[in-house]
Amino acid sequence: MASAIQPDEDHAKWTAPARTALMIVPTYNEAGNISALLDELFSLPTRERTGWDLHVLVRDDRSPDGTGEIVEGLAAGAYAGRLHLSRGTKQGLGKALELAFKSSLELGYEVVMTMDADFSHAPEDVLPLLEAIEGGADVAVGSRYTPGGLIPGDWPLSQIVRTRVASQVARGVGGIDPGLRELTTNFRAMRREVLASIDFGRVVARGYGFQIFLANAFTSGGWVVKEVPISFHTRANGVSKASVKDVLEFIRIALQLNDDSPFKQLVRFLLVGASGTVVNLAALWTLRQIFLPEDPVGDSVWVLSAAAIQISILWNFMWHTGFTFRRYRREGGALGPRQVAVNLVKFEGASALTQTVIFLAFVVFSNLGVFYLLAQALGIVTAVGVNYWVSSHYIWDWRRRIGAVSAAGFGGAKEFRRAT
Ligand code: GDD
Ligand code: MN
Repeated sequence: MASAIQPDEDHAKWTAPARTALMIVPTYNEAGNISALLDELFSLPTRERTGWDLHVLVRDDRSPDGTGEIVEGLAAGAYAGRLHLSRGTKQGLGKALELAFKSSLELGYEVVMTMDADFSHAPEDVLPLLEAIEGGADVAVGSRYTPGGLIPGDWPLSQIVRTRVASQVARGVGGIDPGLRELTTNFRAMRREVLASIDFGRVVARGYGFQIFLANAFTSGGWVVKEVPISFHTRANGVSKASVKDVLEFIRIALQLNDDSPFKQLVRFLLVGASGTVVNLAALWTLRQIFLPEDPVGDSVWVLSAAAIQISILWNFMWHTGFTFRRYRREGGALGPRQVAVNLVKFEGASALTQTVIFLAFVVFSNLGVFYLLAQALGIVTAVGVNYWVSSHYIWDWRRRIGAVSAAGFGGAKEFRRAT
């Protein structure tokens, strides 16, 4: 492996001193920023203010601008013993962080931090992050979206929209616990146990996707996470490296995070609904063959239609319980017959509501002059939405079933439930 940590080579048995946090700074072409950043980091009063000393590991991926050489000089000189340099080939920020995490654990640091080299993150915000760890958090997240957090005044709207959309994708598609607000900022402190518990082999992310992978690991691992307000700044020197490829990767990673994300749940819901429609039609045809074979439009055919609707409701109910909302069943243990009966009654209610919504929407839209088939179709779409909302919030909501909320503890720290 291309990674080499100098102190490791100099002193064969290097171990981190106790109560020392290691700040990982990934760099690629940060020659204009890195020495100023290191000067600021090493002059912070971390010991006095938080009880923790601060060491730094720069993970440089052969920056052509000589970032590595600058750090090499400082690691052998002014900051010897406190500054590590790890070098590798460029495989993206996610990979750089993953490898640096591995090194930090090997070196024996109790707390590991990360920040960008470009002054997006204010060095003095290291203090409140370490304070949060000292106060009992397993993870402290530098957050723009917690009260007191700031995004830069000169940030273009496009960028604000981009990170908002990214967060919504991470929550909706990825299913990350909404209790955590900041999902993508690379400014954090973590106890080593947290990192040691993460299976990095599970997700291969080189860009922003790595950040949501980490965020998800914190919330689904059941750790105490505290969001610390930080101000975020536009980079000081050099250029940002985010690309379209990163966006695609981000979506791919989000899809890999949780099988019970709202998006995947909705997809399952729609699949079951579609199958229910087929079952409904098949049941109607079959019943007609059996009971009214030679009555062409018959006066009694409505009875069969009602029966077919009931059959499809039962069909949907069964699949929603076992498949669509399986987390509901899993989280709270086996379902008793009483609970199943209560849910069935609720689902009958939701289905009646669905019919009503289709009818009302039809009346409203057709009165607005919408073509009648389109009016009916709009009604169906609306009704499916209503049905999904009721099903996921009032019938099969696993959070309600077990009374789970990501409980806020000391100073706003949240303890997340371990995913089962
Ligand atoms: N070692 C290494 N290898 N470092 C890298 C690489 C790489 O391949 N790519 C980027 N870096 C370093 C940069 O030098 C910088 O210190 C940091 O990682 C962030 O890179 P930027 O290029 O400044 O990223 P960004 O500004 O687009 O995104 C940052 O903010 C986002 C949140 O808004 C990153 O911190 C993202 O992770 C974060 O999601
Ligand atoms: Mn940046």
